[in-house]
Amino acid sequence: MRIYRAKTYKDMSRKAANIISAQIIMKPNAVLGLATGSSPLGIYRQLIDWYEKGDLDFSEIRTVNLDEYKGLAPDHEQSYAYFMRKNLFDQVNINLSNTNIPNGLEENEAVECARYNRIIASFGGIDLQLLGIGANGHIGFNEPGEAFERETHCVKLADTTIQANARFFDTIDQVPKYAYSTGIKNIMQAKSILLIASGKAKAEAVNRMIRGPITPACPASILQLHNNVSIVADEEALSIYDAGCR
Ligand code: GLP
Repeated sequence: MRIYRAKTYKDMSRKAANIISAQIIMKPNAVLGLATGSSPLGIYRQLIDWYEKGDLDFSEIRTVNLDEYKGLAPDHEQSYAYFMRKNLFDQVNINLSNTNIPNGLEENEAVECARYNRIIASFGGIDLQLLGIGANGHIGFNEPGEAFERETHCVKLADTTIQANARFFDTIDQVPKYAYSTGIKNIMQAKSILLIASGKAKAEAVNRMIRGPITPACPASILQLHNNVSIVADEEALSIYDAGCR
């Protein structure tokens, strides 16, 4: 794992956006694995800025998002489909038919998981997978558990995740209890992985990801086994890990 240190959220976003833009420039039809949450917002803003300046071209880029809430329509303001259009897709020249997000409205889990796995397989691999990290060590919606889930699956969200994401909804009861998420095998098969982390709330998870035992109790710890992982994190997110190095 390569660790790139950033001073602040802004600095983290810029450094991570530079890595993604290098991928887009080097391979104009790259397959990007994309993430939602607060963490990647600064990256997406930076990429839009560079697109507007004429530095980036998304016309051939293909994307596959990590996850989606089960039960939310793509035009629901808290769906990840809505998030991606608002925060990136509608602001760059990406071809929407080249973008993929699990279908939260598909009730039949087996059908949706198989469909999504087929899409990922048809791409022949993700070139660069962007990941945030949950305070409980989750990646995508791969929650801590007793085993690593391999491919796209339907997840019962952890109570801590529901609480963490309640800030986006009017009441905690409105937070969906289930989500579709790509699995650990899908993520680990990406050619390169870029994980971002910002703030004290992530410090424990970041420490366990880098230093802890490889265990499904901290799903991000599996990334220790991938040979091309870049972590871009700010000082607060690295604080517990750094204290352990002294
Ligand atoms: C969410 C998403 C993850 C994200 C994580 C952290 O629930 N499913 O993909 O990385 O939690 O979110 P944030 O960046 O808002 O802290």
